Amino acid sequence: MHILHVVGARPNFMKAAPLLRALGEAGGVSQTLVHTGQHYDAAMSDVFFHQLGMPVPDVNLSVGSGSHAQQTAEVMARFEPVVLEQKPDWVVVYGDVNSTAAAALVCAKLQIPVAHVEAGLRSRDRSMPEEINRLVTDQLSDLLFTPSADADANLLQEGIPREKIHLVGNVMIDTLVRLLPQAAMLDNLAGIGPFVLVTLHRPANVDDLPWLREMLTALLQVGRELPVIFPVHPRTRQRMADAGCLPASDGRLRLLPPVPYLEFLAMQRAALVVITDSGGIQEETSYLGVPCLTMRENTERPITLTAGTNTLLGRDIPRLRSELQRVLADPRPDSRPIPLWDGRASERIAKILAG
Ligand code: UD1
Repeated sequence: MHILHVVGARPNFMKAAPLLRALGEAGGVSQTLVHTGQHYDAAMSDVFFHQLGMPVPDVNLSVGSGSHAQQTAEVMARFEPVVLEQKPDWVVVYGDVNSTAAAALVCAKLQIPVAHVEAGLRSRDRSMPEEINRLVTDQLSDLLFTPSADADANLLQEGIPREKIHLVGNVMIDTLVRLLPQAAMLDNLAGIGPFVLVTLHRPANVDDLPWLREMLTALLQVGRELPVIFPVHPRTRQRMADAGCLPASDGRLRLLPPVPYLEFLAMQRAALVVITDSGGIQEETSYLGVPCLTMRENTERPITLTAGTNTLLGRDIPRLRSELQRVLADPRPDSRPIPLWDGRASERIAKILAG
Protein backbone atom coordinates (compact mmCIF):
# COMPACT_ATOMS: atom_id res chain seq x y z
CA MET A 1 0.00 0.00 0.00
CA HIS A 2 1.21 3.49 -0.86
CA ILE A 3 0.19 6.41 1.37
CA LEU A 4 0.98 10.02 0.48
CA HIS A 5 0.90 12.63 3.27
CA VAL A 6 0.46 16.35 2.62
CA VAL A 7 1.70 18.94 5.11
CA GLY A 8 2.10 22.66 4.61
CA ALA A 9 2.03 24.77 7.73
CA ARG A 10 3.48 24.61 11.21
CA PRO A 11 0.48 23.00 12.98
CA ASN A 12 0.45 20.15 10.43
CA PHE A 13 3.89 18.88 11.31
CA MET A 14 3.17 17.62 14.83
CA LYS A 15 0.03 15.88 13.52
CA ALA A 16 1.76 14.08 10.65
CA ALA A 17 4.87 13.02 12.59
CA PRO A 18 3.20 10.32 14.74
CA LEU A 19 1.20 8.84 11.85
CA LEU A 20 4.30 8.60 9.63
CA ARG A 21 5.91 6.74 12.49
CA ALA A 22 2.93 4.46 13.21
CA LEU A 23 2.49 3.53 9.54
CA GLY A 24 6.24 2.89 9.26
CA GLU A 25 5.97 0.49 12.18
CA ALA A 26 2.84 -1.18 10.74
CA GLY A 27 4.96 -2.57 7.87
CA GLY A 28 3.93 -3.17 4.26
CA VAL A 29 3.29 0.54 3.65
CA SER A 30 5.37 2.79 1.43
CA GLN A 31 5.02 6.47 2.29
CA THR A 32 5.60 9.72 0.44
CA LEU A 33 5.75 13.04 2.26
CA VAL A 34 4.79 16.18 0.35
CA HIS A 35 5.47 19.63 1.88
CA THR A 36 3.53 22.32 0.08
CA GLY A 37 5.90 25.04 1.34
CA GLN A 38 3.04 27.16 2.76
CA HIS A 39 5.36 27.76 5.72
CA TYR A 40 8.93 28.10 4.51
CA ASP A 41 10.99 29.97 7.14
CA ALA A 42 13.45 27.68 8.91
CA ALA A 43 11.88 28.70 12.23
CA MET A 44 8.36 27.83 11.00
CA SER A 45 9.27 24.56 9.28
CA ASP A 46 12.78 22.97 9.22
CA VAL A 47 13.32 23.05 12.97
CA PHE A 48 10.01 21.23 13.48
CA PHE A 49 10.94 18.45 11.06
CA HIS A 50 14.20 18.05 12.91
CA GLN A 51 12.78 18.04 16.46
CA LEU A 52 9.83 15.81 15.52
CA GLY A 53 12.15 13.29 13.86
CA MET A 54 10.30 13.58 10.54
CA PRO A 55 11.85 12.47 7.26
CA VAL A 56 12.95 15.16 4.82
CA PRO A 57 9.96 15.69 2.47
CA ASP A 58 10.16 13.69 -0.75
CA VAL A 59 8.61 16.61 -2.60
CA ASN A 60 8.51 20.32 -1.74
CA LEU A 61 6.01 22.33 -3.76
CA SER A 62 7.50 25.65 -2.54
CA VAL A 63 4.24 27.56 -2.89
CA GLY A 64 5.14 30.24 -0.32
CA SER A 65 2.84 33.08 0.72
CA GLY A 66 0.02 34.78 -1.16
CA SER A 67 -3.65 35.61 -0.90
CA HIS A 68 -5.87 32.69 0.09
CA ALA A 69 -6.92 32.11 -3.53
CA GLN A 70 -3.35 32.34 -4.81
CA GLN A 71 -1.95 30.04 -2.17
CA THR A 72 -4.75 27.47 -2.57
CA ALA A 73 -4.51 27.58 -6.37
CA GLU A 74 -0.70 27.22 -6.32
CA VAL A 75 -0.92 24.14 -4.09
CA MET A 76 -3.55 22.63 -6.40
CA ALA A 77 -1.62 23.30 -9.60
CA ARG A 78 1.66 22.01 -8.22
CA PHE A 79 0.20 19.04 -6.33
CA GLU A 80 -1.84 17.56 -9.19
CA PRO A 81 1.12 16.29 -11.26
CA VAL A 82 2.69 14.79 -8.12
CA VAL A 83 -0.44 12.75 -7.33
CA LEU A 84 -0.81 11.70 -10.94
CA GLU A 85 2.74 10.43 -10.98
CA GLN A 86 2.70 8.80 -7.52
CA LYS A 87 -0.75 7.16 -7.84
CA PRO A 88 -1.12 6.67 -4.05
CA ASP A 89 -3.79 4.38 -2.56
CA TRP A 90 -4.55 7.07 0.03
CA VAL A 91 -3.71 10.74 0.46
CA VAL A 92 -3.71 11.87 4.10
CA VAL A 93 -4.35 15.55 4.88
CA TYR A 94 -4.16 17.22 8.29
CA GLY A 95 -6.02 19.94 10.15
CA ASP A 96 -7.48 23.00 8.49
CA VAL A 97 -4.84 25.05 6.69
CA ASN A 98 -5.07 26.16 3.07
CA SER A 99 -2.80 23.30 1.97
CA THR A 100 -5.25 20.78 3.51
CA ALA A 101 -8.28 21.94 1.53
CA ALA A 102 -6.27 22.41 -1.68
CA ALA A 103 -4.88 18.87 -1.60
CA ALA A 104 -8.28 17.36 -0.78
CA LEU A 105 -9.85 19.16 -3.73
CA VAL A 106 -7.19 17.89 -6.15
CA CYS A 107 -7.66 14.31 -4.96
CA ALA A 108 -11.46 14.44 -5.07
CA LYS A 109 -11.34 15.51 -8.75
CA LEU A 110 -8.87 12.73 -9.56
CA GLN A 111 -10.92 10.23 -7.54
CA ILE A 112 -8.02 9.40 -5.27
CA PRO A 113 -9.20 8.47 -1.75
CA VAL A 114 -8.55 11.13 0.90
CA ALA A 115 -8.25 10.62 4.65
CA HIS A 116 -8.66 13.69 6.86
CA VAL A 117 -6.92 13.70 10.23
CA GLU A 118 -8.59 16.06 12.74
CA ALA A 119 -11.93 15.98 10.93
CA GLY A 120 -15.24 17.37 12.15
CA LEU A 121 -14.14 20.39 14.18
CA ARG A 122 -16.44 23.38 13.70
CA SER A 123 -16.37 26.92 15.06
CA ARG A 124 -19.51 27.77 13.04
CA ASP A 125 -17.75 31.02 12.16
CA ARG A 126 -17.33 31.26 8.40
CA SER A 127 -15.28 34.43 8.69
CA MET A 128 -12.41 32.14 9.73
CA PRO A 129 -10.49 30.83 6.71
CA GLU A 130 -9.88 27.59 8.61
CA GLU A 131 -13.63 26.95 8.98
CA ILE A 132 -14.01 27.06 5.19
CA ASN A 133 -11.07 24.67 4.85
CA ARG A 134 -12.61 22.30 7.42
CA LEU A 135 -16.03 22.26 5.72
CA VAL A 136 -14.60 21.66 2.25
CA THR A 137 -12.08 19.03 3.33
CA ASP A 138 -14.62 17.00 5.30
CA GLN A 139 -17.13 16.98 2.47
CA LEU A 140 -14.46 15.66 0.10
CA SER A 141 -12.87 13.07 2.37
CA ASP A 142 -13.45 9.32 2.21
CA LEU A 143 -12.21 8.61 5.73
CA LEU A 144 -12.64 11.11 8.57
CA PHE A 145 -10.56 10.67 11.72
CA THR A 146 -11.99 12.73 14.58
CA PRO A 147 -10.38 13.84 17.87
CA SER A 148 -13.53 14.05 20.01
CA ALA A 149 -17.21 13.01 20.01
CA ASP A 150 -18.44 16.57 19.22
CA ALA A 151 -16.67 16.27 15.86
CA ASP A 152 -18.54 13.05 15.03
CA ALA A 153 -21.84 14.77 15.84
CA ASN A 154 -20.95 17.71 13.56
CA LEU A 155 -20.14 15.40 10.65
CA LEU A 156 -23.30 13.32 11.06
CA GLN A 157 -25.34 16.51 11.15
CA GLU A 158 -23.77 17.54 7.83
CA GLY A 159 -24.80 14.23 6.26
CA ILE A 160 -21.44 12.45 6.24
CA PRO A 161 -22.12 8.68 6.34
CA ARG A 162 -21.35 7.14 9.72
CA GLU A 163 -19.12 4.41 8.24
CA LYS A 164 -16.62 7.01 7.02
CA ILE A 165 -16.16 8.50 10.51
CA HIS A 166 -13.70 7.10 13.08
CA LEU A 167 -13.25 8.60 16.52
CA VAL A 168 -9.54 8.02 17.12
CA GLY A 169 -8.42 10.78 19.50
CA ASN A 170 -5.91 13.57 19.12
CA VAL A 171 -2.73 13.00 17.11
CA MET A 172 -1.22 16.27 18.30
CA ILE A 173 -1.34 14.86 21.83
CA ASP A 174 0.54 11.77 20.54
CA THR A 175 3.48 14.04 19.75
CA LEU A 176 3.14 15.91 23.04
CA VAL A 177 3.15 12.67 25.05
CA ARG A 178 6.21 11.38 23.20
CA LEU A 179 8.26 14.57 23.49
CA LEU A 180 7.23 15.93 26.89
CA PRO A 181 10.13 14.17 28.68
CA GLN A 182 12.60 15.81 26.27
CA ALA A 183 10.94 19.20 26.69
CA ALA A 184 11.06 18.80 30.47
CA MET A 185 14.84 18.49 30.31
CA LEU A 186 15.37 21.83 28.58
CA ASP A 187 16.64 24.76 30.58
CA ASN A 188 15.42 27.53 28.29
CA LEU A 189 13.37 29.05 31.13
CA ALA A 190 16.01 28.95 33.84
CA GLY A 191 15.47 31.60 36.48
CA ILE A 192 12.40 33.25 34.97
CA GLY A 193 9.87 32.35 37.72
CA PRO A 194 6.10 32.51 37.12
CA PHE A 195 5.23 33.99 33.73
CA VAL A 196 2.44 34.51 31.20
CA LEU A 197 2.87 32.94 27.74
CA VAL A 198 1.24 34.67 24.76
CA THR A 199 0.70 33.78 21.09
CA LEU A 200 -1.50 35.70 18.66
CA HIS A 201 -1.67 35.26 14.90
CA ARG A 202 -5.29 34.97 13.74
CA PRO A 203 -6.37 37.51 11.12
CA ALA A 204 -9.40 38.44 13.30
CA ASN A 205 -6.98 39.65 15.97
CA VAL A 206 -3.83 40.83 14.25
CA ASP A 207 -5.22 42.29 11.01
CA ASP A 208 -7.41 44.72 12.97
CA LEU A 209 -4.70 47.23 13.85
CA PRO A 210 -6.58 49.34 16.48
CA TRP A 211 -7.52 46.11 18.27
CA LEU A 212 -3.96 44.80 17.97
CA ARG A 213 -2.73 48.03 19.62
CA GLU A 214 -5.31 47.62 22.40
CA MET A 215 -4.19 44.05 23.10
CA LEU A 216 -0.53 45.06 23.19
CA THR A 217 -1.32 47.85 25.65
CA ALA A 218 -3.10 45.30 27.84
CA LEU A 219 -0.13 42.91 27.62
CA LEU A 220 2.28 45.68 28.59
CA GLN A 221 0.09 46.27 31.66
CA VAL A 222 0.08 42.55 32.49
CA GLY A 223 3.87 42.67 32.15
CA ARG A 224 4.10 45.08 35.06
CA GLU A 225 2.78 42.31 37.33
CA LEU A 226 4.24 39.18 35.77
CA PRO A 227 6.79 38.65 32.99
CA VAL A 228 5.13 38.04 29.62
CA ILE A 229 6.81 35.82 27.01
CA PHE A 230 5.46 36.32 23.50
CA PRO A 231 6.92 34.31 20.59
CA VAL A 232 5.73 36.33 17.60
CA HIS A 233 4.42 34.73 14.40
CA PRO A 234 5.84 36.41 11.25
CA ARG A 235 2.35 37.64 10.25
CA THR A 236 1.90 39.27 13.68
CA ARG A 237 5.33 40.91 13.62
CA GLN A 238 4.50 42.37 10.22
CA ARG A 239 1.16 43.72 11.46
CA MET A 240 2.76 45.24 14.58
CA ALA A 241 5.23 47.02 12.35
CA ASP A 242 2.35 48.17 10.05
CA ALA A 243 0.49 49.51 13.08
CA GLY A 244 3.63 51.26 14.35
CA CYS A 245 3.26 49.38 17.64
CA LEU A 246 6.10 46.86 17.69
CA PRO A 247 6.99 47.18 21.38
CA ALA A 248 10.60 47.13 22.53
CA SER A 249 11.31 43.69 23.97
CA ASP A 250 12.44 43.85 27.60
CA GLY A 251 12.38 41.74 30.76
CA ARG A 252 8.66 42.45 31.32
CA LEU A 253 7.42 41.78 27.78
CA ARG A 254 9.80 39.50 25.92
CA LEU A 255 9.09 39.35 22.20
CA LEU A 256 10.78 36.31 20.67
CA PRO A 257 11.02 34.93 17.16
CA PRO A 258 8.85 31.80 16.54
CA VAL A 259 9.99 29.14 19.01
CA PRO A 260 10.81 25.51 18.11
CA TYR A 261 8.42 22.74 19.23
CA LEU A 262 10.32 21.44 22.27
CA GLU A 263 11.10 24.88 23.64
CA PHE A 264 7.47 25.93 23.20
CA LEU A 265 6.24 22.79 24.93
CA ALA A 266 8.57 23.56 27.84
CA MET A 267 7.12 27.08 27.96
CA GLN A 268 3.51 25.86 27.98
CA ARG A 269 4.26 23.38 30.74
CA ALA A 270 5.93 26.01 32.91
CA ALA A 271 3.56 28.92 32.22
CA LEU A 272 1.21 30.13 34.91
CA VAL A 273 -1.32 30.88 32.20
CA VAL A 274 -1.38 31.00 28.40
CA ILE A 275 -3.13 33.73 26.40
CA THR A 276 -3.63 32.67 22.79
CA ASP A 277 -5.79 32.59 19.68
CA SER A 278 -4.31 29.32 18.42
CA GLY A 279 -6.37 26.14 18.04
CA GLY A 280 -3.71 23.59 18.96
CA ILE A 281 -2.59 25.47 22.06
CA GLN A 282 -6.12 25.23 23.52
CA GLU A 283 -5.69 21.45 23.29
CA GLU A 284 -2.11 21.25 24.54
CA THR A 285 -2.79 23.43 27.61
CA SER A 286 -5.89 21.33 28.37
CA TYR A 287 -3.78 18.19 28.34
CA LEU A 288 -1.11 19.84 30.50
CA GLY A 289 -3.65 21.28 32.98
CA VAL A 290 -2.44 24.84 32.38
CA PRO A 291 -5.13 27.57 32.23
CA CYS A 292 -5.68 28.93 28.73
CA LEU A 293 -7.39 32.27 27.99
CA THR A 294 -8.44 32.29 24.35
CA MET A 295 -8.80 35.66 22.62
CA ARG A 296 -11.58 34.47 20.32
CA GLU A 297 -15.39 34.62 20.27
CA ASN A 298 -15.71 30.91 19.51
CA THR A 299 -13.76 27.69 19.31
CA GLU A 300 -13.89 24.64 17.06
CA ARG A 301 -12.54 22.70 20.06
CA PRO A 302 -15.41 22.91 22.61
CA ILE A 303 -14.11 19.89 24.54
CA THR A 304 -11.31 22.14 25.83
CA LEU A 305 -14.00 24.34 27.45
CA THR A 306 -16.05 21.52 28.95
CA ALA A 307 -13.31 19.10 30.03
CA GLY A 308 -10.10 21.10 29.64
CA THR A 309 -8.68 24.33 30.99
CA ASN A 310 -9.79 26.72 28.25
CA THR A 311 -11.84 29.93 28.68
CA LEU A 312 -13.09 32.01 25.74
CA LEU A 313 -12.59 35.73 26.23
CA GLY A 314 -13.51 37.22 22.87
CA ARG A 315 -12.42 40.85 22.87
CA ASP A 316 -13.08 41.55 26.50
CA ILE A 317 -9.96 43.19 28.00
CA PRO A 318 -11.53 43.82 31.48
CA ARG A 319 -12.41 40.11 31.53
CA LEU A 320 -8.83 39.26 30.58
CA ARG A 321 -7.70 41.16 33.65
CA SER A 322 -10.25 39.50 35.95
CA GLU A 323 -9.47 36.02 34.57
CA LEU A 324 -5.77 36.62 35.19
CA GLN A 325 -6.56 37.52 38.80
CA ARG A 326 -8.62 34.33 39.10
CA VAL A 327 -5.72 32.25 37.77
CA LEU A 328 -3.30 33.89 40.19
CA ALA A 329 -5.63 32.87 43.03
CA ASP A 330 -6.13 29.29 41.70
CA PRO A 331 -3.27 28.39 39.35
CA ARG A 332 -4.42 24.82 38.57
CA PRO A 333 -8.12 24.68 37.62
CA ASP A 334 -10.08 21.42 37.57
CA SER A 335 -9.79 19.51 34.35
CA ARG A 336 -10.49 15.92 33.37
CA PRO A 337 -8.54 13.67 31.01
CA ILE A 338 -10.17 13.84 27.59
CA PRO A 339 -11.12 10.40 26.22
CA LEU A 340 -8.61 9.04 23.66
CA TRP A 341 -6.15 11.91 24.11
CA ASP A 342 -3.72 9.29 25.28
CA GLY A 343 -0.78 9.27 22.87
CA ARG A 344 -2.15 6.41 20.76
CA ALA A 345 -4.43 8.11 18.22
CA SER A 346 -2.02 7.57 15.33
CA GLU A 347 -1.76 3.84 16.12
CA ARG A 348 -5.55 3.66 15.82
CA ILE A 349 -5.46 5.50 12.49
CA ALA A 350 -2.67 3.26 11.17
CA LYS A 351 -4.74 0.16 12.00
CA ILE A 352 -7.71 1.48 10.06
CA LEU A 353 -5.70 2.72 7.07
CA ALA A 354 -3.25 -0.15 6.73
CA GLY A 355 -4.88 -2.93 8.76
C1 UD1 B 1 -1.59 29.40 8.80
C2 UD1 B 1 -2.95 28.74 8.88
C3 UD1 B 1 -3.49 28.83 10.30
C4 UD1 B 1 -2.49 28.29 11.30
C5 UD1 B 1 -1.18 29.01 11.12
C6 UD1 B 1 -0.14 28.50 12.08
C7 UD1 B 1 -4.34 28.96 6.84
C8 UD1 B 1 -5.53 29.62 6.28
N1 UD1 B 1 -3.94 29.43 8.03
O1 UD1 B 1 -1.78 30.78 9.08
O2 UD1 B 1 -4.67 28.07 10.40
O3 UD1 B 1 -2.99 28.47 12.61
O4 UD1 B 1 -0.74 28.81 9.77
O5 UD1 B 1 1.05 29.20 11.96
O6 UD1 B 1 -3.80 28.06 6.25
N2 UD1 B 1 5.10 33.91 6.76
C9 UD1 B 1 6.46 34.00 6.86
N3 UD1 B 1 7.16 32.83 6.90
C10 UD1 B 1 6.57 31.62 6.85
C11 UD1 B 1 5.17 31.55 6.74
C12 UD1 B 1 4.45 32.71 6.71
O7 UD1 B 1 7.03 35.06 6.91
O8 UD1 B 1 7.28 30.59 6.91
C13 UD1 B 1 4.30 35.17 6.75
C14 UD1 B 1 4.02 35.66 5.37
O9 UD1 B 1 4.08 37.06 5.40
C15 UD1 B 1 2.60 35.22 5.12
C16 UD1 B 1 2.00 35.27 6.52
O10 UD1 B 1 3.07 34.93 7.39
O11 UD1 B 1 1.93 36.03 4.23
C17 UD1 B 1 0.86 34.34 6.73
O12 UD1 B 1 1.20 32.99 6.38
P1 UD1 B 1 0.06 31.99 5.87
O13 UD1 B 1 0.62 30.65 5.64
O14 UD1 B 1 -0.72 32.61 4.78
O15 UD1 B 1 -0.95 31.92 7.09
P2 UD1 B 1 -0.69 31.86 8.66
O16 UD1 B 1 -1.14 33.15 9.24
O17 UD1 B 1 0.66 31.37 8.99
